[in-house]
Amino acid sequence: MKILLLNGPNLGRLDQRNPDIYGRTTLAEVVERATQYAASRGSSVVAFQSNHEGALIDRLEQLDFDGVVINPGALGHTSYALRDAIEGIGRPAVEIHISDVHAREPFRHVLVLEDVVIGQVIGRGVDGYLEAIDLLLEHVP
Ligand code: DQA
Repeated sequence: MKILLLNGPNLGRLDQRNPDIYGRTTLAEVVERATQYAASRGSSVVAFQSNHEGALIDRLEQLDFDGVVINPGALGHTSYALRDAIEGIGRPAVEIHISDVHAREPFRHVLVLEDVVIGQVIGRGVDGYLEAIDLLLEHVP
């Protein structure tokens, strides 16, 4: 399975930004670990990060993948456009949040993608990306 690993706003600064919340792993390391893990399960990863909502939607519209692992960042709390894009592509998607958004500020408790993704991994640190791959592969072996 070809997996699109999509990361939204501010996730490019993963090791430098609020390390007490998000840890010290860089996004490049996350992508490397996800790529190796997916390969061990007979799958491949193509990764894309953007701080721009439209760029994320443009990437989804390329449809050169079988499923999506997405950390939408704060867009996961607000973006109906991203929600509609995921609904419209006809490919399974799993949402991941590194931190436990339900234990943080109230605005983070709203997750607008939740009815269009096949699963969510929340508050498991960067290991959550690998758990999200597992969920995707369970859905589409
Ligand atoms: C995040 C949680 C969001 O609330 C936040 O805006 C992020 C990161 C996470 O991975 O925990 O940018 O998606």
